[in-house]
Amino acid sequence: YDYDLLVVGSANADLVIGVERRPGAGETVLGSDLAVHPGGKGANQAVAAARLGARTALLARVGDDAHGRLLLDAQRAAGVDTAGVLVGGAPTGVALITVDPSGDNSIVVSPGANGRLTPDDVRAAGGLVQASRVVSAQLEIPLETVVEVVRNLPPGSRFVLNPSPPRPLPSEVLAACDPLIVNEHEAKVILGESSAGDTPEQWARLLLAKGPRSVVVTLGAEGSLVASAQAVARVPSVKVAAVDTTGAGDAFTAALAWRLGTGSSLEEAAAYASRVGAAAVTKQGAQDSFPTAQEVEAL
Ligand code: RIB
Ligand code: NA
Repeated sequence: YDYDLLVVGSANADLVIGVERRPGAGETVLGSDLAVHPGGKGANQAVAAARLGARTALLARVGDDAHGRLLLDAQRAAGVDTAGVLVGGAPTGVALITVDPSGDNSIVVSPGANGRLTPDDVRAAGGLVQASRVVSAQLEIPLETVVEVVRNLPPGSRFVLNPSPPRPLPSEVLAACDPLIVNEHEAKVILGESSAGDTPEQWARLLLAKGPRSVVVTLGAEGSLVASAQAVARVPSVKVAAVDTTGAGDAFTAALAWRLGTGSSLEEAAAYASRVGAAAVTKQGAQDSFPTAQEVEAL
């Protein structure tokens, strides 16, 4: 394999404003100065993996505009192979983000060019997919594009999906996941609210019954739960003071995907990934906050 990890997914310019509290309907609040950061769940994952030392490529689409150039520059600076980043067709995706004093965020995404990453684009990038040990995707790109990724996986490779933002998934996609990585909200959407159960153990068991070879339920400050037919285990998190949680989940997913490709068990990979995610919440922004392997060791 030429690449440890291929990320297929979104690239957004993150327009971030700090607020004391979020406005309700019809309300205006004043916030901090605007910060513009490179983001998007796909681009974030690619930077996170590359910064840890993984040979990483990104398949994505950005606009022919200043935001697109910001994103490409950030990928290249992190050492990501950007031959698979397509340019044009729509403006670069944008995420409008508010961050509150506890470090929690809320996000509205305008997909823009991400929505124009098509199954044809995946077929045209078949060489990248074939050359990658692990392929990772999220759902800020069209679902049919993710389906095409699954259909093009080489034998022996591994597919990791974070279905965010969540929607019901076809069984063809669920069956390919190893693991499916979900938080509580995503688990409930995929299971259908009424049949979702009450505990992470129940969500994991019900999700496994839908076809993934393994499931990881992320539990924020509580760490995560990893589950496969062989074993179910809780993996604790590392306690840190949160500054900005934006992108921490993407860093977790990328680190987990990369470690699985190097032969780590699901539990080992999740333990490493939670340290990567913890480091990411201690700094502002998404990609700008992701640690190197040395910084993870030091934590
Ligand atoms: O997961 C965090 C990311 O979600 C942000 O970078 C934003 O772009 C949205 O896609
Ligand atoms: Na951060």
